[in-house]
Amino acid sequence: MTVTGPQTTAARLVHPAEPGPGPWHRDAVIYQVYPRSWADADGDGVGDLPGITARLRHLVELGVDAVWLSPFYPSPQADAGYDISDHRDVDPLFGSLADADALLARAHELGLKVIVDLVPNHTSDEHPWFAAALASRPGSPERARYVFRDGRGHGGELPPTNWSSAFGGAAWTRVVEADGRPGQWYLHVFDRRQPDLNWDHPEVRADFEDVLRFWLDRGVDGFRVDVASGLVKDPTMPDWHGPLRVQGVDTDGRPHPARDQEGVHEIYRAWRLLLEEHRGDRVLVAEAWVADLDRVARYVRPDEMHQAFNFAYLLTPWRAADLRQTIEASLRANDAVGAPTTWVLSNHDVVRHASRLGTPARGGRMTGIGADDPQPDGPLGLRRARAATLLMLALPGAAYLYQGEELGLPEHTTLPDGARQDPTFVRTAGAEKGRDGARVPIPWEAGAPAYGFSTSGRSWLPQPREWARYAVDAQRGVPGSTYELYRAALRLRRERHLGRGDLRWLDAPEDVVAFGNGDLVVMANTGEEPVPLPDGARVLLASDDLPGDGTLPPDTAAWVVPA
Ligand code: NOJ
Repeated sequence: MTVTGPQTTAARLVHPAEPGPGPWHRDAVIYQVYPRSWADADGDGVGDLPGITARLRHLVELGVDAVWLSPFYPSPQADAGYDISDHRDVDPLFGSLADADALLARAHELGLKVIVDLVPNHTSDEHPWFAAALASRPGSPERARYVFRDGRGHGGELPPTNWSSAFGGAAWTRVVEADGRPGQWYLHVFDRRQPDLNWDHPEVRADFEDVLRFWLDRGVDGFRVDVASGLVKDPTMPDWHGPLRVQGVDTDGRPHPARDQEGVHEIYRAWRLLLEEHRGDRVLVAEAWVADLDRVARYVRPDEMHQAFNFAYLLTPWRAADLRQTIEASLRANDAVGAPTTWVLSNHDVVRHASRLGTPARGGRMTGIGADDPQPDGPLGLRRARAATLLMLALPGAAYLYQGEELGLPEHTTLPDGARQDPTFVRTAGAEKGRDGARVPIPWEAGAPAYGFSTSGRSWLPQPREWARYAVDAQRGVPGSTYELYRAALRLRRERHLGRGDLRWLDAPEDVVAFGNGDLVVMANTGEEPVPLPDGARVLLASDDLPGDGTLPPDTAAWVVPA
């Protein structure tokens, strides 16, 4: 059998190019900064806003368009800041409002957009509203802003529904009433310190609109909306017999009663109007772990949000057939509503893709790896991760990067249990290691204490000893380093407007993802044998060294221009 390279004549158009420059977000590359772990200016071992501001040049050098900041608001940090006690301020751990203003000003000066996190599904248990709810009687207006219910059973000793928390254990906690007796239960789809708000309550809606205005007036360019599919609950509060936890659908395809309910969309329609009252292209980005891509696309209909994270893509194993299927389904679902498709491989909630892809499953969602678990194959994972990134950055649409992936950073898979802080670890009694392994502070300088993360050498999670080689200064200017690969890819992506380009499938061997975007041919070989590149093709960029015999080795991707 003669194997040939991709046939550019047999292309099948899946997605047309976008005409002219459009709103910035449609083809942007957005870099996620996890403030605790990026750069620590005050030396307490936890990253902060002044640290971020001082390091923003890194993002310009890397070549991204925008930064998304995970929460930095006042919080007891029961879920690393996703438990907010005041949405209109900055936690002293991270700095002050003046520091936030300075960060925004510096980012804008450098031409970077800034997206902040908005966490509307729940508050901290230390939010003044929740404190008031606990101090008030059942049925009081204070309790009405949350989801309080009487328990089942004779004495109300059973939770109101059988729902599980996304972090393990029950999704309800019983309170002690003023008379000292066990009383009502409140809903928390996450930790017990994150009570769910009642989005049927007008005060809740009004308050969040005010929070949006507060940050829009300070100049943010948009919001990443946490748990966007969860705000509205099925009012009948039925028990749930589908897969455990809250991401799934049951056997009839119905969503969990605390997920993807129809009523949630009207909230985003109102927010869209509110954003449009402000100058500039401000955006709303949905964090919606909804299984079906067509359901996710409903969050980005023309009068709702601007983007939704494409977790289906993140979950797709490193296998050409699966990748082709997800890419096509993603583009079709978003094109149908006129929204840009987004692509993402890593974030602070999943195992980093440099480790995830080095496991036998070649991907999939994993909630942490411990020292006793089978360890990923590091070199294989990195090789695939580099190929996966090159594939992703050539896809039309917007892309999200997670801090450290530009260094090829792996998951910390041998964190001592005693260092773990993710509530998932505690709530599952250690059955799930949790997300700390993806949240370890970034290495900047190979020879500095804490690799330059912190001025004092402290670090809230221990950094592995072998991380010096991943440091930014160990990779800058080094040909073939992951950092330089990302820089080159981002530069070419920008020059060639790949984010606004088209996508045409090219005929290729089964194990190869091959498509055209403009005059570029993109190939990723997920198989075990080398495959031919198009005859006479000029290689612009490859995820690893090519043998020079006109083939693309396994677990490698390349951007080429055909002869
Ligand atoms: C999604 C966030 O990304 C995650 O880190 C957090 O724990 C949950 N939402 C709850 O806010």
